[in-house]
Amino acid sequence: MSVCKNIEQLRAQISEWRSNKETIAFVPTMGNLHAGHLSLVELAQQKAVHVVVSIYVNPLQFSPDEDFSSYPRTLEEDLKKLEAIGTDLVFVPDTSMIYPRGETKSSFVEVPVLSHIIEGEFRPGFFRGVSTVVLKLFNMVQPDYAVFGEKDFQQLLIIKQMVNDLNLPIEIVAAAIKREADGLAMSSRNNYLNPSDREKSCLLSQALMACRRQIEQGISIEQAEKSCVDALQNHGFLVDYVTLRETMGLEKVSKSDINANNELIILAAAKIGNTRLIDNMKFVIIDKT
Ligand code: PAF
Repeated sequence: MSVCKNIEQLRAQISEWRSNKETIAFVPTMGNLHAGHLSLVELAQQKAVHVVVSIYVNPLQFSPDEDFSSYPRTLEEDLKKLEAIGTDLVFVPDTSMIYPRGETKSSFVEVPVLSHIIEGEFRPGFFRGVSTVVLKLFNMVQPDYAVFGEKDFQQLLIIKQMVNDLNLPIEIVAAAIKREADGLAMSSRNNYLNPSDREKSCLLSQALMACRRQIEQGISIEQAEKSCVDALQNHGFLVDYVTLRETMGLEKVSKSDINANNELIILAAAKIGNTRLIDNMKFVIIDKT
């Protein structure tokens, strides 16, 4: 496995693969890798001859009151995990390489509408930071495929739209959410949970499941979302949102959309203790009439 710290090294390896007409799949990460990330790499390996993983904690996607400086950085362990599963190349740029002018003075890319709803309402600037760094990494790695986890479902749709809007010749591949045995969606931020919050954290996926069941049973959307929020609040969560949407553009759905075999998704974000968790659940209601 090669580890490239600068763009020249990365480009040299990419050109060699390209000249041999070998395909490349890319997995961008912020490091602190867990089994969820490794499942993205394994999916990438099924898609292309070579897999490139980037590890970069992108300052542009953190607001001043978020955890940029304390975000877990575990490069040595990450490299061991990636080597063990046969990753070809790990790109570990630093900020002077990604934002040579400083991150606030550089050009940016922003996907309209989708970047400003749901998660975007609670984290202004977050998706602009994500799409900007992902576009820059795409330009550096020039992959045929790029793999993103469905845990960050809105991020996945935003990257898909950016790739479409800007005609990038990259296929975006979605990877299913990896969960702990108790249902908690895997995330690097789960490391922040203290033992008592960790115990409660699985209630988020359970609440989403209960919400899904209620919608399947025909309870009104507002009532199902509200009882999910109430259940979480009763267990000490501070809820940012629980919302039912369709999966193409995250538009709100009405009762009639529900019965049209559309794929639906319940998205949620809530804080337990000091840790903000996000999760989602996709499902289809088959119209039996
Ligand atoms: O999902 C993440 O880890 C990040 O948002 C990404 C895509 C690596 C961009 O920094």
